[in-house]
Amino acid sequence: RIAYVNGRYVVHRDACVHIEDRGYQFGDGVYEVCEVTRGFVVDTVRHLDRLNRSLSELSMAWPMARKALVVVMREVIRRNGVVNGLVYVQVTRGVAGRDFVFPSPDTPPSLVVIARKFNMDAVAKRVENGLKVITVPENRWDRVDIKSTGLLPNVLAKQKAKEAGCQEAWFIDTDGMVKEGGSSNAWIVTKDGVLVTRPADHGILRGITRTTMFDVAEKLGLKIEERKFSVAEAKAAREVFISSATTIAMPIVEIDGATIANGHPGSITLSLRQAFFDVAE
Ligand code: PDD
Repeated sequence: RIAYVNGRYVVHRDACVHIEDRGYQFGDGVYEVCEVTRGFVVDTVRHLDRLNRSLSELSMAWPMARKALVVVMREVIRRNGVVNGLVYVQVTRGVAGRDFVFPSPDTPPSLVVIARKFNMDAVAKRVENGLKVITVPENRWDRVDIKSTGLLPNVLAKQKAKEAGCQEAWFIDTDGMVKEGGSSNAWIVTKDGVLVTRPADHGILRGITRTTMFDVAEKLGLKIEERKFSVAEAKAAREVFISSATTIAMPIVEIDGATIANGHPGSITLSLRQAFFDVAE
């Protein structure tokens, strides 16, 4: 395996960043995870637009020209022979002696690009069986719209999910409304077949897969309502699913031990998943 680290393609096992990298010391960095399907990056433009937004919200510089970054991403994918998988892009505020305030503006940002293959048999199994989620109180900061590498609450929530025999944790706001998963957006399908997902300007990450799902739904003639929904409404929904670059539309069959509908992945979720690959480019 090969990774890209600050200007070099290096063997994955030997790939490293400096001990005083601000990403390492402060979580002072941003990232993107893009799906790779049939060897191509899905939604490149939207991912790089969001990376641009994350960088600018944190007053961080681009590590290289946008077009050059696309070349590096493709090269890492090619060198690793990834056909179905993901490409990970991480930019940090660079290397400087530990100090909370920003380093001098001539400090170059650090850039790391990693690609990984999916185990397609494992993916198929997850789609067939569906995933289980637990709910946890929201305990993250109020800028989760920035795709920051500071993910400790997400790590703890997803570990808790794993220990409960589940695969995702949903953050719940103080009104009992579902925010999003530790690494995914949350959706329900109502009895009338309407898709419901929380508005992206209310304390969640604006998922790229979430955005593309709007195009997919339109193509399938499905209606989307952008509104908050409660845990109780989700438990009583016709279908529940999550979306992210690593899961696309992935069925949820259990929330806090309560079975959703008949306990099997929903048909609308599965058709959204199918159609996603035709719409995404
Ligand atoms: N996570 N919400 C959170 C908190 C996320 O971390 C993610 C993605 C999403 C979905 O966004 P998108 O559709 O752009 O992947 C929502 C990635 C996959 C990760 O951290 O691995």
